[in-house]
Amino acid sequence: MSNNTETSYARIYKQSLSDPEAFWKKAAENIEWVQPFDQVLDDSDPPHFRWFVGGELNTCFNAVDVHVQNGLGDQLALVYDSAVTGNKKTFSFFELRDEVAHFAGVLAARGISKGDRVIIYMPMVPEAVVAMLACARLGAVHSVVFGGFAANELAVRIDDATPRAIVCASCGIEPGRVVEYKPLLDEAIDLATQKPECCIVLQRPAVVAAMVDGRDFDWHAEMALASPHDCVPVKATDPLYILYTSGTTGQPKGVVRDNGGHAVALKWTMENIYGVKPGEIFWAASDVGWVVGHSYIVYAPLFAGNTSILYEGKPVGTPDPGAFWRVISEHNVSVLFTAPTAFRAIKKEDPAGEHISRYDLSSLKYLFLAGERTDPDTLHWAENYLGVPVIDHWWQTETGWSIAANCMGIEAMPVREGSSSLPVPGWDLRVMSEEGEEVAPGEIGTLALKLPLPPGSFPTLWNAKERFIQSYLERFPGFYNTSDAGIIDADGYVYVMSRTDDIINVAGHRLSTGAMEEVLSDHPDVAECAVTGVADVLKGQIPLGFLVLNAGCTRSTVEISDEVVALVRKRIGPVAAFKQALVVKRLPKTRSGKVLRGTMRAIADGKEWKMPATIDDPEILTEITEALLTIGYPRSE
Ligand code: COA
Ligand code: AMP
Repeated sequence: MSNNTETSYARIYKQSLSDPEAFWKKAAENIEWVQPFDQVLDDSDPPHFRWFVGGELNTCFNAVDVHVQNGLGDQLALVYDSAVTGNKKTFSFFELRDEVAHFAGVLAARGISKGDRVIIYMPMVPEAVVAMLACARLGAVHSVVFGGFAANELAVRIDDATPRAIVCASCGIEPGRVVEYKPLLDEAIDLATQKPECCIVLQRPAVVAAMVDGRDFDWHAEMALASPHDCVPVKATDPLYILYTSGTTGQPKGVVRDNGGHAVALKWTMENIYGVKPGEIFWAASDVGWVVGHSYIVYAPLFAGNTSILYEGKPVGTPDPGAFWRVISEHNVSVLFTAPTAFRAIKKEDPAGEHISRYDLSSLKYLFLAGERTDPDTLHWAENYLGVPVIDHWWQTETGWSIAANCMGIEAMPVREGSSSLPVPGWDLRVMSEEGEEVAPGEIGTLALKLPLPPGSFPTLWNAKERFIQSYLERFPGFYNTSDAGIIDADGYVYVMSRTDDIINVAGHRLSTGAMEEVLSDHPDVAECAVTGVADVLKGQIPLGFLVLNAGCTRSTVEISDEVVALVRKRIGPVAAFKQALVVKRLPKTRSGKVLRGTMRAIADGKEWKMPATIDDPEILTEITEALLTIGYPRSE
């Protein structure tokens, strides 16, 4: 893009970086402040930066009450559509405000106030959204834990966040099975050293959970007694939520989000990135347990006065691959946001798009995809059958909103296959070499963001200030290390290629292979192990374990593999999708003892690989290749 043909995108992007304070001050005018901020950016303590210092606001007020105040109380705020139960329910802003104010009253009556933590362990039901907003209303800090995690993972989060209260549902409903959440919660509380004072339990018709006397309280009974609670002003820099995400060890990282920067940035994204106007219908087909759910099922659409769809179901099997098209046509969805894996699942069952032609999808303007790179097949299939721009955009739990995207509300740029388009205003994106130098356009390196990060990105990790610095800021001083490898081409298009750490992406879910290795190595017969992410047609990647057994172990290798698979499901949860472990004689290592996971992955994927110069014993790779062949790797598809 040359200067004489400067695009609106290029102009706005430049403005956002040349004078970030002016840029975000203007965006902050769209938020209702109880107390205006004194300083847009406090940069007095690098590498820590704080936005909107001195300002006070309430996030729930900006998401819900403001619209009632502005006369839009009758507009729909939330539409719950459950393909797994057949239930549907709508909430106007007025109704949502009443529900949230009452549930804030429930929490307040149980002693919850500003700064207290509340864990929410719930499936995709409106009460999950109500609970999140009620915490925000009180200035309490919520931490939502995804339902597919096991008791042990929940316990780790309870111990780290030390919640005074936990809000949970009796069950989640997965196709073909009911997942009882309450026994998992009970087990987690037993395992945790920090016990919550109370649990509020939503009893769903499918399962009535057993209650612990004096600790557990029924959602509906509490709501019937509660008085509505008003919004409590908090500092812009106070935490709104903690969202745990996988790090390279079994201890997840508690990503902290503040109130002020979050509200300003997220509201800005709705019109500018997603190109939706207030009143339009926005659907993020994700889960409230992930960052996409926090930002784009709950907060951003509500800040912007959109109607948000809360869909409890899958892209396929609930009941068929037309499920997404039914929701779009029934609720007049303007913008759909999901992960490429959902489209691969649909495409696999309905390659000719026959279900699409059964519905009127004329309301749909754009499809946004994130969570993993959009593969060209999925991109073109979606473009062909939906006839709308398909936008791959890249972001992370830490950033809270997208770093690279095609900003539909600023200027639609040409879509390029394999690219998440251009850096979004606010993000100063560079590509770094191993030596920490910026590389030339078109060369691969680590994607890094120059500090300060824009509002809405995480200011720190909960209880882990040192880890925050070590994990993100030390590798490239003055920059945030995204741990994603990628390329920026001569036109500024960004290509995100792979993680540079041990994180894998399974069906758009971020998982730590290190955490899985910790579980495998706890098996009494396992001497050594490694987990790597291998290519999968549907989920993008799936974990594959390699086990070396203790000398003298004569037990059946099939039995041991089954046991470690069960152990990962029990300790991490079904979401890990850990289904296979291969017993091998030895693991390939460098002379310094580093396990060559990347080489094993390349062999399993049938990709070309080079013998690592530092390998300890090349013969081991022949053994690994042979062992992989016995379980069908490389896959033929
Ligand atoms: N509570 C309990 N268990 C859950 C759960 C929840 N909220 N969500 C998922 N699980 C379980 C599933 O039942 C499955 O268990 P199984 O091993 O017994 O089959 C396991 O966790 C893996 O789930 P999932 O990754 O969802 O795989 P799937 O095979 O059930 O479905 C897709 C595959 C592609 C249809 C599904 O992953 C999907 O819809 N993805 C959409 C993308 C998305 O939500 N991305 C988030 C970021 S945008
Ligand atoms: P999460 O924190 O769960 O949102 O996962 C973030 C990680 O998912 C990123 O660091 C990337 O590795 C990957 N990711 C997300 N979106 C994309 C995308 N559009 N293209 C490539 N990778 C992506």
